[in-house]
Amino acid sequence: MSQLIPVEPFDCVVFGATGDLALRKLMPSLYHRWRDGQIPESSRIIGASRSELDAASYRALIREKFVEFFPKESIDERAWKGFAQRIAYCPLDVESADSNWAELGKLLDAAAGKKRVFYFALPPALYGDVAANIVAAGLKTPETAIVLEKPIGSDLTSARDINDAVGRSFTESQVFRIDHYLGKETVQNLLILRFANSIFEPVWNAGAIDHVQISVNETVGAGSRAAYYDKSGALRDMVQNHLLQLLCLVAMEPPLDLVADTVRDEKIKVLRALRRFTSRSVDDETVRGQYRAGVSLEERVPGYDEELGRPSGAETFVALKAHVDNWRWAGVPFYLRTGKRMSDRKSEIVIQFKNVAHSIVGEGAGRLAPTRLVIRLQPDEGVKLLLMTKEPGPGGLRLRYVPLNLSYAATFTERYPDAYERLLMAVVRGDLGLFMRRDEVEAAWTWVDGILEAWEKDGGRVLPYAAGTDGPNRAAVLLGRDGREWFDGV
Ligand code: BG6
Repeated sequence: MSQLIPVEPFDCVVFGATGDLALRKLMPSLYHRWRDGQIPESSRIIGASRSELDAASYRALIREKFVEFFPKESIDERAWKGFAQRIAYCPLDVESADSNWAELGKLLDAAAGKKRVFYFALPPALYGDVAANIVAAGLKTPETAIVLEKPIGSDLTSARDINDAVGRSFTESQVFRIDHYLGKETVQNLLILRFANSIFEPVWNAGAIDHVQISVNETVGAGSRAAYYDKSGALRDMVQNHLLQLLCLVAMEPPLDLVADTVRDEKIKVLRALRRFTSRSVDDETVRGQYRAGVSLEERVPGYDEELGRPSGAETFVALKAHVDNWRWAGVPFYLRTGKRMSDRKSEIVIQFKNVAHSIVGEGAGRLAPTRLVIRLQPDEGVKLLLMTKEPGPGGLRLRYVPLNLSYAATFTERYPDAYERLLMAVVRGDLGLFMRRDEVEAAWTWVDGILEAWEKDGGRVLPYAAGTDGPNRAAVLLGRDGREWFDGV
């Protein structure tokens, strides 16, 4: 295991402490960091929500959910005991300035200079008021950070409203806007792959690259989240944030260093270079779908409208062709695709290089395939460079398309932390590089709003697809028209 540097002692308040995010992700992440010795003893974790619990019953709830969400993991009892001792609970109505804030204040360490984190695992519409209530209760210190979950708004106007409201209570350097994709190991590795190896940068441009594909395919459906999801749909839920962040990391210019704002300055240039859709291009270059009943992972599953309990126009699948209008990427399409209830769970970036200028081998040797760099974000994390190779043997010249394969599982045998573990520790360290700056979020909405407006004018065609398939056939046509296809492995 690589050397762990403990963070400074901190107090972390989780608002929405009994909700799914807190119990499924945040508390298990904090337990894992504690177990591995990264969290100092004098740190405190305080759950706050409307439920009338005491500390003991909140600890029991965390444990019960941990067992449910991590059935294969055996709990380290000694570590758990120490972790549980760090946990307190405060019943609190975050929306009301008259609630138990003084009680919460008593649970926080008053020592000067101690880091304070308030994690907003709450509906975004509350962010502004909750930020103001923290300040009004006198709980904001110079070392305070607040963590906001996505979605920040549902369009540019609402995102601005939230950012303005939060900005009245906290400065930008205290606001950590989470996009958990930025905490994934393989996503962080994108910058290292591109800029810590000399072979890629000279060919990372329109001269050598034919096109880029970014797919985030899930097998899960909207399920119990259908009510939230229905207001959002795949474009707002996934493209506005996760897929655009991935696109930025692939398309950005080399930053001078890894200082947060240096990287974020480069990412925002990409967002600003994204070509706006018109009602015409949106019809040609975007595809929307919604899953119907089908067979997913050998199980019969209901359609989205059945889960929701009524018909809906929300898209559970979107594919689109994006253009980054700058010198480096002129004429290189970025095909983005994401969907629920797809055939396989797969998040992957494919950089497809141009065909060789002239083939020196005869037809009989086999078809030449283009060089592809395939970056697998999850599952089976890894990087593959797919190359044409001569098949060994005396039987004449035959070609085979094979990968140079970096598999994380085979290369890095230690457990590597979940995205939330890394992000929580980054908040405590004050490292803003893995979080979205206000202008990034707003630039992403500006582009997404263009699509939403055009969809609205277009009247909207959400195509059905059977659960367990790869989305509507039109997604294949989107690439097929350009003489290309979604990469599906070799
Ligand atoms: C969330 C979306 O941000 O990301 C979910 O709201 C989606 O709809 C999830 O399922 C996917 O995250 P991951 O880490 O499982 O790829």
